Amino acid sequence: MLEGKRVILRPIDKKDVELFLKWFNDPEVTQYLLFYLPMTRKAEEKWIEDNNLSNSNFIFLIEIKGDKGRPNIPIGNCGLHQISWKDRHATFGIAIGEKDYWNNGYGSETSALLLKYGFEVLNLHRISSSVFEFNKRSLKAHQKVGFQIEGRRRKVFFKRNRYCDEIILGLLKSEWSKRK
Ligand SMILES: CC(C)(COP(=O)(O)OP(=O)(O)OC[C@H]1O[C@@H](n2cnc3c(N)ncnc32)[C@H](O)[C@@H]1OP(=O)(O)O)[C@@H](O)C(=O)NCCC(=O)NCCS
Repeated sequence: MLEGKRVILRPIDKKDVELFLKWFNDPEVTQYLLFYLPMTRKAEEKWIEDNNLSNSNFIFLIEIKGDKGRPNIPIGNCGLHQISWKDRHATFGIAIGEKDYWNNGYGSETSALLLKYGFEVLNLHRISSSVFEFNKRSLKAHQKVGFQIEGRRRKVFFKRNRYCDEIILGLLKSEWSKRK
């Protein structure tokens, strides 16, 4: 478990599948993500199980810490994916599925915790990410934690009834260390 000031990142359990079905069948959420097909219970359970057994994908549930003894509030998930132990590289992913919690700094806090884990625990050398060009909020949240824009793949994804660019982002451990 990774603990920040306001959020906790904990391992994902099969019982979290209900949350995932809600979040990842919501077009307002999935417009920002790579997948687009209806998410079935079976596919979601398999995704959770595959990830939990994998040593190249580490996924976490994002929870806001409960106030005054109240239970934590699950709001989304995040992870480091496609880890290459040779290159010490991973791909970063995050989705806050509870839309009421967007724009409250939870994404930036979560990202900083996950990067710290990637660089200081897993000893990664580089973490990559990308955003659709229209996802200004995600771009800003990435830049707030240090990601640099490295390039752009033009009109590579069909989203919102048109082709859109993908903005390529990256962060090196050396850059991360200098920010502290
Ligand atoms: C992207 C996401 C993780 C960001 O987390 P968040 O908690 O909403 O974002 P934060 O509050 O930490 O930071 C967002 C920043 O973007 C800014 N922002 C929001 N909308 C913006 C816009 N349209 N243009 C420019 N900046 C914008 C906010 O003001 C904030 O910056 P500030 O702290 O300097 O004011 C979250 O919104 C999310 O999961 N969205 C849906 C799925 C998604 O987009 N996943 C990422 C796929 S790459």
